[in-house]
Amino acid sequence: MASLTVRQLDEKLKQRLRLRAAKNGRSVEDEVRTILRSAAADAESFAGGGGPARSVPSEQPQKAAIRVLLIIGGGIAAYKSLDLIRRLQDGGARVRCVLTRAAQHFVTPLAAGALAGQRAYTDLFDSQSEFDIGHIRLARDTDLIVIAPATADLIAKMANGHADDLATAALLATDKPVLLAPAMNPHMWTAKATQRNLMQLKADGVRVIGPNAGEMAERGEAGIGRMAEPLEIAAAAIAMLHGSSALAGRRVLVTSGPTSEPLDPVRVLANRSSGKQGHAIAAAAAAAGADVVLISGPVKLADPPGVTVMPIETAQQMLAAVEKALPADVAIFAAAVADWRPRQVSANKIKKHGRPPTIALIENPDILSTIAHKKSGRPRLVIGFAAETADVIGNAKAKLKKKGCDWVLANDVSPATGIMGGDRNTVHLVTATDVESWPPQSKDDVARTLIERVALALADNKP
Ligand code: C5P
Repeated sequence: MASLTVRQLDEKLKQRLRLRAAKNGRSVEDEVRTILRSAAADAESFAGGGGPARSVPSEQPQKAAIRVLLIIGGGIAAYKSLDLIRRLQDGGARVRCVLTRAAQHFVTPLAAGALAGQRAYTDLFDSQSEFDIGHIRLARDTDLIVIAPATADLIAKMANGHADDLATAALLATDKPVLLAPAMNPHMWTAKATQRNLMQLKADGVRVIGPNAGEMAERGEAGIGRMAEPLEIAAAAIAMLHGSSALAGRRVLVTSGPTSEPLDPVRVLANRSSGKQGHAIAAAAAAAGADVVLISGPVKLADPPGVTVMPIETAQQMLAAVEKALPADVAIFAAAVADWRPRQVSANKIKKHGRPPTIALIENPDILSTIAHKKSGRPRLVIGFAAETADVIGNAKAKLKKKGCDWVLANDVSPATGIMGGDRNTVHLVTATDVESWPPQSKDDVARTLIERVALALADNKP
């Protein structure tokens, strides 16, 4: 074991040590011993050598804990960040907290520290915390930085590279991935400056989750600005770290696109579904390591990489393909299946003579409902879509019950929304107990968020 002589340390360090020792009523040597003891214990616990993260029983073989630096900004949503500490720990993370000065008006470092199981950091110019760990190590000795809530001010400072407090200095110094969970008044969120800063941060590689739509803390204020729920943020954080393995070993079945129901050899009954959302989901599931089967109607899209595609045309063919592709852990029904098909399919082209023909229709099988009601071989998680033009959430709740699925992703497809065929989507995740409204985002982001939630639900074993 090397010996260390205080005399050999540089003058500035010695001065800080003397001050600290005097403050604690110890000799300088005793102060150094205390610091080394606590640094060793801290390093051991933070590096995974100490006690396990909260939810992992110590007898079981453990994965190395992931380390998350949680920066709590100054907004009313800060109280939810205390729950976020727990959710991150449930996902196997060790959490270290930094509170901005404004955050301390809403939650205390003591509460954050108690939940995290280690002291929370607050001040760039606090010689003790700088001596304990320092903002550079704070920024680097972690696997991921999560900022929740990220206020408009914090976002602006980040986008412009400010470093005038501990949070912004750590953010500027980090070389680790950053996840941002904005929370602010809807007017501040839509302000051009905020959106400009956000675009800059996204271009810099920062991942953004939320904000969601809903009621604000201010009475009578509603809109987009609520911080994403702790569970959503934790799911995104864990997925960012585990990346391509969140669904490893899982089989995911996805339906996508329209169905096309023949009337005669040249005519079909079809719909306007582009398949973009379903294909994005299949791609996101494959990127998360799942074995993916995509059963798709006719679309003008490339097959997603790493996905087994089963092309079909009619609803009956889609049902047969789904049955063939089972068993699966998860089935996601994003296809726009035609509710009816022509009762007769004419062997020859129907000719134009006399009066226009009357086309009799019969009902198609409901694929989602058939699979969700299976007595045996039902996927653990069955997810449907509800494309509505009115009372989106009410209809989605009714659909969840009627079809017997676990989740419904509901969206408003009124022509004014531009969702049909467009690249963006605004969805609500409806479960038996909850409704979550996700912010407008690209269909790729909806897919990624959904797959993160699926991975979390399978890991938790509770849809
Ligand atoms: O009843 P509705 O068409 O609104 O339900 C939409 C959901 O049901 C979607 O998930 C869709 O893929 C699925 N569905 C189905 N088979 C049908 C009709 C709808 O799987 N015949």
